[in-house]
Amino acid sequence: MRLDRAVSLAGLTRSEAKKAIAAGRVRVNGVIAADPAMKVEPAQVSVDGAAPVDAGPQYIMLNKPAGVVTATEDRHLNTVLDLLPEALRRRGLGPVGRLDRDVTGLVLLTDDGQLAHRLISPRWKAGKLYRAECEGRLTEDDVRAFAAGMALSDFTARPARLTVLQAGDDRSVADVELTEGKFHQVKRMFAADGHPLIALRRLRIGPLTLDAGLGPGEWRRLTEEEINALKTSVGLVE
Ligand code: URA
Repeated sequence: MRLDRAVSLAGLTRSEAKKAIAAGRVRVNGVIAADPAMKVEPAQVSVDGAAPVDAGPQYIMLNKPAGVVTATEDRHLNTVLDLLPEALRRRGLGPVGRLDRDVTGLVLLTDDGQLAHRLISPRWKAGKLYRAECEGRLTEDDVRAFAAGMALSDFTARPARLTVLQAGDDRSVADVELTEGKFHQVKRMFAADGHPLIALRRLRIGPLTLDAGLGPGEWRRLTEEEINALKTSVGLVE
Protein backbone atom coordinates (compact mmCIF):
# COMPACT_ATOMS: atom_id res chain seq x y z
CA MET A 1 0.00 0.00 0.00
CA ARG A 2 1.00 3.65 -0.32
CA LEU A 3 3.19 5.04 2.44
CA ASP A 4 0.70 7.78 3.38
CA ARG A 5 -2.05 5.16 3.77
CA ALA A 6 0.19 3.00 5.97
CA VAL A 7 1.00 6.05 8.12
CA SER A 8 -2.70 6.85 8.46
CA LEU A 9 -3.19 3.40 10.04
CA ALA A 10 -1.10 4.73 12.93
CA GLY A 11 -3.96 7.12 13.65
CA LEU A 12 -3.23 10.11 11.44
CA THR A 13 -5.50 11.61 8.78
CA ARG A 14 -4.19 11.35 5.23
CA SER A 15 -3.10 15.03 5.26
CA GLU A 16 -1.44 14.65 8.68
CA ALA A 17 0.33 11.58 7.28
CA LYS A 18 1.65 13.58 4.30
CA LYS A 19 2.87 16.32 6.67
CA ALA A 20 4.55 13.76 8.94
CA ILE A 21 6.34 12.28 5.91
CA ALA A 22 7.42 15.75 4.70
CA ALA A 23 8.71 16.52 8.21
CA GLY A 24 10.94 13.43 8.22
CA ARG A 25 9.02 11.73 11.04
CA VAL A 26 8.36 8.54 9.08
CA ARG A 27 10.80 5.70 8.54
CA VAL A 28 10.59 2.68 6.25
CA ASN A 29 12.82 -0.15 7.43
CA GLY A 30 14.53 2.36 9.69
CA VAL A 31 15.31 4.86 6.90
CA ILE A 32 13.56 8.24 6.67
CA ALA A 33 11.14 8.14 3.72
CA ALA A 34 10.06 11.19 1.71
CA ASP A 35 7.69 9.87 -0.97
CA PRO A 36 4.05 9.52 0.20
CA ALA A 37 3.29 7.33 -2.83
CA MET A 38 6.09 4.83 -2.08
CA LYS A 39 4.79 1.23 -1.95
CA VAL A 40 5.31 -0.36 1.48
CA GLU A 41 4.12 -3.07 3.82
CA PRO A 42 2.68 -1.44 6.96
CA ALA A 43 4.97 -3.53 9.18
CA GLN A 44 7.96 -1.74 7.58
CA VAL A 45 6.68 1.68 8.62
CA SER A 46 7.19 3.53 11.89
CA VAL A 47 6.16 7.03 12.88
CA ASP A 48 8.16 9.08 15.39
CA GLY A 49 10.18 5.98 16.27
CA ALA A 50 7.13 4.09 17.58
CA ALA A 51 6.50 0.38 16.99
CA PRO A 52 5.70 -0.56 13.35
CA VAL A 53 2.19 0.07 12.07
CA ASP A 54 -0.21 -2.82 12.72
CA ALA A 55 -2.42 -3.12 9.61
CA GLY A 56 -4.30 -6.26 10.65
CA PRO A 57 -7.78 -6.41 12.13
CA GLN A 58 -8.12 -4.96 15.60
CA TYR A 59 -9.85 -6.68 18.53
CA ILE A 60 -10.55 -4.64 21.64
CA MET A 61 -12.39 -5.50 24.85
CA LEU A 62 -13.90 -2.63 26.77
CA ASN A 63 -15.48 -2.46 30.21
CA LYS A 64 -18.41 -0.20 29.36
CA PRO A 65 -19.49 2.16 32.13
CA ALA A 66 -23.11 3.24 32.57
CA GLY A 67 -24.14 6.36 30.63
CA VAL A 68 -22.14 5.57 27.49
CA VAL A 69 -23.95 4.49 24.32
CA THR A 70 -22.90 1.46 22.28
CA ALA A 71 -22.63 3.29 18.97
CA THR A 72 -19.89 4.76 16.82
CA GLU A 73 -21.29 8.29 16.99
CA ASP A 74 -23.92 10.23 18.88
CA ARG A 75 -24.72 13.92 18.77
CA HIS A 76 -25.15 14.34 22.51
CA LEU A 77 -23.75 11.37 24.41
CA ASN A 78 -20.38 9.73 24.80
CA THR A 79 -20.00 6.55 22.79
CA VAL A 80 -17.88 3.48 23.42
CA LEU A 81 -15.50 4.73 20.70
CA ASP A 82 -14.90 7.93 22.69
CA LEU A 83 -13.24 5.74 25.33
CA LEU A 84 -10.52 4.65 22.88
CA PRO A 85 -7.45 6.64 21.88
CA GLU A 86 -7.56 8.66 18.66
CA ALA A 87 -5.42 6.18 16.71
CA LEU A 88 -7.90 3.37 17.34
CA ARG A 89 -10.96 5.54 16.77
CA ARG A 90 -9.83 6.11 13.20
CA ARG A 91 -9.58 2.40 12.42
CA GLY A 92 -13.24 1.83 11.61
CA LEU A 93 -13.95 -0.33 14.65
CA GLY A 94 -17.52 -1.13 15.56
CA PRO A 95 -19.14 -2.74 18.60
CA VAL A 96 -20.27 -6.37 18.32
CA GLY A 97 -23.88 -6.14 19.46
CA ARG A 98 -25.23 -3.46 21.74
CA LEU A 99 -25.57 -2.83 25.43
CA ASP A 100 -28.22 -0.39 26.62
CA ARG A 101 -26.96 2.94 27.95
CA ASP A 102 -27.47 1.91 31.59
CA VAL A 103 -25.96 -1.58 31.13
CA THR A 104 -22.27 -2.10 31.97
CA GLY A 105 -19.57 -4.62 31.18
CA LEU A 106 -18.05 -6.39 28.21
CA VAL A 107 -18.16 -4.76 24.79
CA LEU A 108 -16.08 -6.23 21.99
CA LEU A 109 -14.98 -3.78 19.30
CA THR A 110 -13.49 -4.93 16.03
CA ASP A 111 -13.14 -4.19 12.33
CA ASP A 112 -13.29 -7.95 11.58
CA GLY A 113 -16.73 -7.92 9.97
CA GLN A 114 -17.01 -11.66 9.51
CA LEU A 115 -16.32 -12.42 13.16
CA ALA A 116 -18.68 -9.65 14.31
CA HIS A 117 -21.43 -10.93 12.05
CA ARG A 118 -21.18 -14.49 13.31
CA LEU A 119 -21.04 -13.50 16.97
CA ILE A 120 -24.36 -11.69 16.71
CA SER A 121 -26.03 -14.06 14.26
CA PRO A 122 -28.61 -16.29 16.00
CA ARG A 123 -27.42 -19.07 13.69
CA TRP A 124 -24.11 -19.45 15.53
CA LYS A 125 -25.76 -19.28 18.97
CA ALA A 126 -22.82 -17.54 20.64
CA GLY A 127 -23.76 -17.35 24.33
CA LYS A 128 -23.81 -14.01 26.11
CA LEU A 129 -23.53 -14.17 29.89
CA TYR A 130 -24.98 -11.40 32.06
CA ARG A 131 -24.92 -10.76 35.80
CA ALA A 132 -28.35 -9.46 36.77
CA GLU A 133 -29.51 -7.85 39.99
CA CYS A 134 -33.29 -7.86 40.24
CA GLU A 135 -36.14 -7.10 42.59
CA GLY A 136 -37.59 -9.86 44.77
CA ARG A 137 -36.56 -13.41 45.56
CA LEU A 138 -35.55 -15.68 42.67
CA THR A 139 -36.46 -19.35 43.09
CA GLU A 140 -36.35 -22.61 41.15
CA ASP A 141 -39.63 -21.52 39.50
CA ASP A 142 -37.76 -18.66 37.85
CA VAL A 143 -34.96 -20.98 36.72
CA ARG A 144 -37.63 -23.17 35.10
CA ALA A 145 -39.39 -20.18 33.52
CA PHE A 146 -36.15 -19.03 31.85
CA ALA A 147 -35.28 -22.58 30.77
CA ALA A 148 -38.71 -23.14 29.23
CA GLY A 149 -38.37 -20.33 26.68
CA MET A 150 -40.28 -17.31 27.90
CA ALA A 151 -43.17 -15.91 25.88
CA LEU A 152 -42.84 -12.13 25.49
CA SER A 153 -45.36 -9.89 23.73
CA ASP A 154 -43.78 -10.17 20.27
CA PHE A 155 -41.64 -13.34 20.39
CA THR A 156 -40.78 -16.37 22.47
CA ALA A 157 -37.26 -16.25 23.87
CA ARG A 158 -34.99 -19.22 23.35
CA PRO A 159 -34.42 -21.27 26.50
CA ALA A 160 -31.96 -19.41 28.75
CA ARG A 161 -29.91 -20.69 31.67
CA LEU A 162 -30.52 -18.82 34.93
CA THR A 163 -28.13 -19.48 37.82
CA VAL A 164 -29.23 -17.88 41.09
CA LEU A 165 -26.24 -16.57 43.06
CA GLN A 166 -28.04 -14.73 45.88
CA ALA A 167 -31.73 -14.79 46.76
CA GLY A 168 -33.18 -12.28 49.21
CA ASP A 169 -36.68 -11.03 49.86
CA ASP A 170 -35.96 -7.60 48.36
CA ARG A 171 -33.32 -8.40 45.77
CA SER A 172 -31.57 -11.29 44.10
CA VAL A 173 -28.50 -11.74 41.94
CA ALA A 174 -28.27 -14.26 39.11
CA ASP A 175 -26.25 -15.09 36.03
CA VAL A 176 -28.24 -15.53 32.86
CA GLU A 177 -26.96 -16.85 29.55
CA LEU A 178 -28.74 -16.10 26.27
CA THR A 179 -27.96 -17.22 22.73
CA GLU A 180 -29.82 -14.35 21.10
CA GLY A 181 -29.91 -10.62 21.65
CA LYS A 182 -33.20 -8.97 20.93
CA PHE A 183 -33.84 -5.37 21.99
CA HIS A 184 -33.86 -5.07 25.82
CA GLN A 185 -34.17 -8.84 25.98
CA VAL A 186 -32.77 -9.50 29.45
CA LYS A 187 -34.69 -6.61 30.97
CA ARG A 188 -37.87 -7.78 29.30
CA MET A 189 -37.43 -11.37 30.44
CA PHE A 190 -36.89 -10.41 34.07
CA ALA A 191 -39.82 -7.97 33.95
CA ALA A 192 -42.07 -10.63 32.39
CA ASP A 193 -40.96 -13.02 35.12
CA GLY A 194 -42.05 -10.51 37.80
CA HIS A 195 -38.53 -9.44 38.83
CA PRO A 196 -37.71 -6.03 37.34
CA LEU A 197 -34.00 -5.47 36.87
CA ILE A 198 -32.00 -3.18 39.14
CA ALA A 199 -28.67 -3.56 37.33
CA LEU A 200 -27.24 -5.55 34.44
CA ARG A 201 -23.67 -6.27 33.50
CA ARG A 202 -22.32 -8.39 30.63
CA LEU A 203 -19.53 -10.74 31.66
CA ARG A 204 -18.91 -12.92 28.62
CA ILE A 205 -19.45 -13.17 24.83
CA GLY A 206 -18.93 -16.73 23.60
CA PRO A 207 -15.59 -17.77 25.10
CA LEU A 208 -14.44 -14.18 25.75
CA THR A 209 -14.61 -13.19 29.42
CA LEU A 210 -14.40 -9.59 30.63
CA ASP A 211 -10.97 -9.02 32.17
CA ALA A 212 -11.60 -8.40 35.88
CA GLY A 213 -8.59 -6.07 35.89
CA LEU A 214 -10.32 -3.54 33.63
CA GLY A 215 -12.00 -0.74 35.54
CA PRO A 216 -15.08 1.05 34.15
CA GLY A 217 -14.15 2.71 30.85
CA GLU A 218 -10.87 0.80 30.52
CA TRP A 219 -9.97 -1.33 27.51
CA ARG A 220 -7.27 -3.65 26.24
CA ARG A 221 -6.43 -5.55 23.07
CA LEU A 222 -7.40 -9.23 22.96
CA THR A 223 -4.62 -11.79 23.19
CA GLU A 224 -3.97 -14.16 20.29
CA GLU A 225 -5.54 -16.96 22.39
CA GLU A 226 -8.69 -14.92 22.93
CA ILE A 227 -8.97 -14.07 19.22
CA ASN A 228 -8.49 -17.71 18.25
CA ALA A 229 -11.02 -18.92 20.81
CA LEU A 230 -13.61 -16.45 19.50
CA LYS A 231 -13.00 -17.45 15.88
CA THR A 232 -13.08 -21.14 16.72
CA SER A 233 -16.37 -20.72 18.57
CA VAL A 234 -18.07 -19.49 15.39
CA GLY A 235 -16.40 -21.85 12.92
CA LEU A 236 -13.76 -19.45 11.53
CA VAL A 237 -10.77 -21.55 12.66
CA GLU A 238 -10.53 -25.35 12.42
N1 URA B 1 -30.46 -7.19 27.48
C1 URA B 1 -30.91 -5.97 27.83
O1 URA B 1 -32.03 -5.82 28.26
N2 URA B 1 -30.08 -4.93 27.67
C2 URA B 1 -28.83 -5.06 27.20
O2 URA B 1 -28.12 -4.07 27.07
C3 URA B 1 -28.38 -6.34 26.86
C4 URA B 1 -29.22 -7.39 27.01
